[in-house]
Amino acid sequence: MTPVQRTTWPLEPHTKVKHAILSEYLKAWFPILGRYNGKVVYIDGFAGPGRYSEEEPGSPLVALNIAQNARFPGKIVFLFIEKDAMRLKNLKKEIGNIPWPNTFDISPKEGSFANNLSEILSHLKENNLRPAPIFAFIDPFGFKDVSFDLIQELLTYEKCEVFINFMVDSVNRWIEHPKEKIRSQIHTLLGNDKLDSVLNAEDRIKALRDLYEEQLKTAAKFVLPFEMRNKKDRTQYYLFFASNHRMGHVKMKESMWKIDEKGDFSFSAATYKDQSLFNDFDLNEKIRSLQSDIFEHFKGQSNVSCSSILNYVEDKTMFIEKHMKEALRRGEKETKIIVRETKSDGKRRKLGTFPNNALIDFKGE
Ligand SMILES: C[S@@+](CC[C@H](N)C(=O)[O-])C[C@H]1O[C@@H](n2cnc3c(N)ncnc32)[C@H](O)[C@@H]1O
Repeated sequence: MTPVQRTTWPLEPHTKVKHAILSEYLKAWFPILGRYNGKVVYIDGFAGPGRYSEEEPGSPLVALNIAQNARFPGKIVFLFIEKDAMRLKNLKKEIGNIPWPNTFDISPKEGSFANNLSEILSHLKENNLRPAPIFAFIDPFGFKDVSFDLIQELLTYEKCEVFINFMVDSVNRWIEHPKEKIRSQIHTLLGNDKLDSVLNAEDRIKALRDLYEEQLKTAAKFVLPFEMRNKKDRTQYYLFFASNHRMGHVKMKESMWKIDEKGDFSFSAATYKDQSLFNDFDLNEKIRSLQSDIFEHFKGQSNVSCSSILNYVEDKTMFIEKHMKEALRRGEKETKIIVRETKSDGKRRKLGTFPNNALIDFKGE
C-alpha cells in the first residue's frame, strides 16, 4: 500500500473487512476477559486519524464502540499511537466528540509504535511486572517500524496477543532494494536471516507468508492468517492473529469464519460482490477433509469424549465446533463411528447430538 499523504482517506473494502474481523473478535474478547480481569489494555499501534473521508469510524472508534457495548465491568486502558501530528489531532477530536464510560482510560499518543512499545516492555522488565491482558492491533501502511523482536517479547507475557497487518506485497517489492536501510527494515520486520530462502522461492508471497507464520509460531501457540487480495486479485497483505490462548484462538477463528463463510480465510476486492454467496460445494469438501482428519487422528480409539475431539479440532485445524459436529453427524450416518448410547455422566445421549461428554468409538481402518 502506498502511504497516504492526506490526513484522512477513503475507506477501502478490504479495510471494512479488517474492521469487521476486529469487531467480531473484540465482541468476544472484552466480555470474556472482563469475567476474570479487573483491567485490560487495548493498543492500536498505528491508529490513524479516527475517521475515514466519508465519516466512517477508524479502528480506534471501532474498538471503543465495541468496548462500550460489551459493558466491561473493570477498567479498560486504550493506547492509540499515531506518528502523524495532524492525524493524531483529528483522532483526539473524534474521540473527544463522544462521551465514553468513566472506566475508560483513553490515551492518544504521538510517536512511533516501536518506541512506545519498547518503552512499555522495558518498564515491565525493569520492574519485573506482569501486565494486564493486552490486545495489540498493529496496522501499518508498509513494513517500517514493526519489529518482530518487540512482538515476540510482548507475546512472552501471559494473555497478550497481537493482530498484525503483514504487508506482504510491499515486502516482496522492496526486498531486494539497493538501500541497506530498507533491507534492514524488512529484516527487523521478519526478525531473522532467512531471506535468502524467500528470494529463491518460486512463490515469494507464499514463502514470505510461511516465514512470518513460522516466526510468530516461535512466540505463540496459535497463529491464524487471513489473506487480503486487491482489486486485481493479487495478495496485498495478511492479517495475522497470534495468541497463546485456546479461547482467543477459537474466537478469532469464529470471527474469520463469520467474515468468510467459505473458510478460505481470504477476502478479494476483485470478487467481493460474490463473496457473500455461500458456497455449499466448497464447504462440503472442507467438512469431508475435516472428517478424514478426525478419523485418521482418532483411528482405532474407543470411548473418546466429544470434548477431546473438539480440543483437537479447535487447536489443530482451521475448523470450529459446528464443523466438528457436522463431520461427526456424517460419520455416524456413514457408520464410520459409533456414538455410545450413554454419555460419561451415565445419562442417555439424545440421538443426533454431540455434547462434550458424548463418547465415541472410532473404527480401526
Ligand atoms: C493503515 S493506517 C491505520 C488505519 C487504522 N488502523 C484504521 O484501521 O482505521 C496507518 C497509520 O499509521 C500511522 N503511522 C505511520 N508510521 C507510524 C509509526 N511508526 N508509528 C505509529 N503510527 C504510524 C500513519 O500516519 C497512519 O495514520
